[in-house]
Amino acid sequence: MDTIFQYAAYCVITLLLVVLGSRLVFNPLKAYPGPFLARLTNGYAGWHAIKGDIHLVTYRDHLKYGPVVQQAPNRLVFNTLTAIQDIYLNPRVAKARIYANARFRNTPSVFTALDRADHRRRRRVVGQAISERSMREFEPTMMSQIDVFLVQLLHSSRQGQVVEMTSRCKWLAMDVIGLLAFGASWKTQTEETLRFLPKVFAALNPRVYMFMNWPKTHKIDPGVQWLVRGRIERFRGTTTATAMCTIFYYLSRNPSAYARLASEVRTTFSWGSEIRNGQDLTGCKYLRAVIDESMRICPPTPGVMWRERDPLSNEPLVVDGHVIPPGTLVGVGTYSLMHNPDYFPEPFAFRPERWLEGDAETPEQKETRANMRRAFIPFILGDRSCAGKAVAYLEMSLTVAKTMWYFDFERAPGQAGELGSGRKGLTGGRDRPNEYQLYDWFMADHEGPNLVFQPRGKHWEELT
Ligand code: HEM
Repeated sequence: MDTIFQYAAYCVITLLLVVLGSRLVFNPLKAYPGPFLARLTNGYAGWHAIKGDIHLVTYRDHLKYGPVVQQAPNRLVFNTLTAIQDIYLNPRVAKARIYANARFRNTPSVFTALDRADHRRRRRVVGQAISERSMREFEPTMMSQIDVFLVQLLHSSRQGQVVEMTSRCKWLAMDVIGLLAFGASWKTQTEETLRFLPKVFAALNPRVYMFMNWPKTHKIDPGVQWLVRGRIERFRGTTTATAMCTIFYYLSRNPSAYARLASEVRTTFSWGSEIRNGQDLTGCKYLRAVIDESMRICPPTPGVMWRERDPLSNEPLVVDGHVIPPGTLVGVGTYSLMHNPDYFPEPFAFRPERWLEGDAETPEQKETRANMRRAFIPFILGDRSCAGKAVAYLEMSLTVAKTMWYFDFERAPGQAGELGSGRKGLTGGRDRPNEYQLYDWFMADHEGPNLVFQPRGKHWEELT
């Protein structure tokens, strides 16, 4: 009996070695550097997708292996401006088929549609909902939700409470997207009933991300599809929450940026009610610089947006001069590129000023800033870039400007104020104490920051 088991074990081990060995020997990407495990199996990316640190792993792998890295047996990730051009702005490149694994009930949405005509049709419908005109009509509704957010902050400040911003910003973002996309008033900001939804979603997110990074695992979990049926689209707006939490985190730790933004908002407007979409708001250049710097340093979708050669194209795909073998997925990591010091000097420093035009810039300085703009990809680029960019900017600008108008805020005292930060001694790239920590589950998750708010003068009376 023992010998039969031994024989079976030998067979299995030999088979495994043959399969893995042939993957290494016959892999069309074997000339590209990358971690050994990544060459053998999608499990490398899949494991880090579950852990939520694949953005950090991609960043680390670029430091180790250079601007092009093999991240799975059939995936190459790039870290250059030219790759952005060759991949996302290339009409012969399509969204990778693995996006089908993010579908629910196997029904395509604007986000997961792969057929070009189907996508165009869906994108048109979304475009109508968030056209400039619709946004003008929607602005008062968005504003009413932001006012609820401010009133809640006022209550907390009166009770001397520490405010955990991830929950507050997610509730705000959810209530806004509920009204925009479904005309539904979810009232998560003021009522407990539906607050479980972002938690359920956050818990399920890593598995969906794993299905995209390790496609074989998709077969094992039909239960997930039933649990979240149709809800994922509703939560796309929570990316805005990530950006807002990042803004509040870095403002509470950078007194000069805080002071400059406070001064801009408080001198541009005379009343909180004047803060609305229009020239005055778009004229707040430092506000825009703070928002952009926050999305650079903590992109709300920090991973790789995978693409592949359009199945209908016969021409070879060339990225950064590399002829890409058919069937290969390619992409650029948003976190990695936006921390590439070639485009963003001192990439971990929060410096909104880097986005502002200097008084007498030399041609080289102009060129550097133009490249920085090109490498700014939180919404990605091309025909599959974010459809909600304008909504996101409006919501972030109004929320941050109004909060700065009505309140002063600072980091909560003691240990509570550290929530959301990296820490010395942590591994896997989480050891930078002043970096807001993201968990990359396609849409990032996070905690904190914990802040304490003080109403400013008598301005709060406008809110009540
Ligand atoms: C700061 C906030 C946001 C960021 C950083 C962001 C980022 C992105 C990115 C990177 C993509 C491309 C995903 C991919 O290729 O896999 C995307 C797609 C998309 N986003 Fe956003 N997003 C934000 C807010 C929003 C909001 C508020 C909405 C809805 C109103 C929205 C709706 C969409 C849709 C519908 C797509 C799919 C577009 C397509 O495939 O044609 N996003 N977003």
